[in-house]
Amino acid sequence: MRSVFITFILLNSFLFALSGEEVFKQKCASCHQYYVPQNKIIANAKHDNKDLNLAAPTLTEMSFMIKDQVGDRALDAEGQKFQIEEWLTDYLNAPTKDKGVIPDEFTRFFEVMPSMKGQLNEDEVEALTDFIYVYSEKMTVAHSVKRYSYEEAKKIAKEQNKIILIEGYISFCRGCIRMDREVMVEDKVKEVLNKDFVFVKKNFLIEKLPLGIKHLGTPSFYFINSDGDKVIEMVQGFGTADEFLELLKNVKKMAENQ
Ligand code: HEC
Repeated sequence: MRSVFITFILLNSFLFALSGEEVFKQKCASCHQYYVPQNKIIANAKHDNKDLNLAAPTLTEMSFMIKDQVGDRALDAEGQKFQIEEWLTDYLNAPTKDKGVIPDEFTRFFEVMPSMKGQLNEDEVEALTDFIYVYSEKMTVAHSVKRYSYEEAKKIAKEQNKIILIEGYISFCRGCIRMDREVMVEDKVKEVLNKDFVFVKKNFLIEKLPLGIKHLGTPSFYFINSDGDKVIEMVQGFGTADEFLELLKNVKKMAENQ
């Protein structure tokens, strides 16, 4: 009898596991939009919120800044999430301008959020925390140009006569994060990358570059010919979408002249 009962409970909690996405949809999404590309957010803030007329920060902005600013990033995910849950509980109960972690330039045109005291239980805040914690990164990957492993990239480059582009990064590198959020998600960049390049990301803390290339600081970009045996160009640093497009154009020319 007892084991049957336990199975029943487990099955039950599995079936009805609270989804942070659902809680957000029901209790937050009336004010907070989900995703707007970072360049549009930056322009909107410069124009006093007149471009987008947002009622509140987007979920993507909140997710990014909360993960960056709340709790101790040196802890493992569970440890930091525990601290975020505490912060979020306090914020939702008694929001003030000071408690926010998104820079003022992006929030100065918003009202203070109304308190949600008594409207969410602990399980709901925990589920929301899980959802918020991963959201920004998920959006960046989803809206970015497709990433391949180096082995896949080599094959595609050879078959389709494309240039292999490797981006070297490490976590917490500001320039790398800006490249991901502000450049790799732009349509005009994706269009050029999809046409002539195959994109690979390598984490320099744990991965090496092919062909014995000595890596530069991060972020850095390594262009390899379609045969996979020659470096066409390598550069280091952050650039805007337009600067990056200029670089891609030059590399394409160099590849053609080889
Ligand atoms: C009635 C509209 C409204 C609803 C509903 C709402 N919010 Fe907000 N929220 C706002 C506004 C406006 C701000 C900006 C406040 C500011 O700039 O001080 C905000 C700010 C925040 C911030 C702080 C952002 C920062 O600067 O760090 C968090 C976190 C947040 N909301 C989470 C939530 C969550 C989670 C829910 C759902 C449970 C929710 N909000 C529901 C309007 C709302």
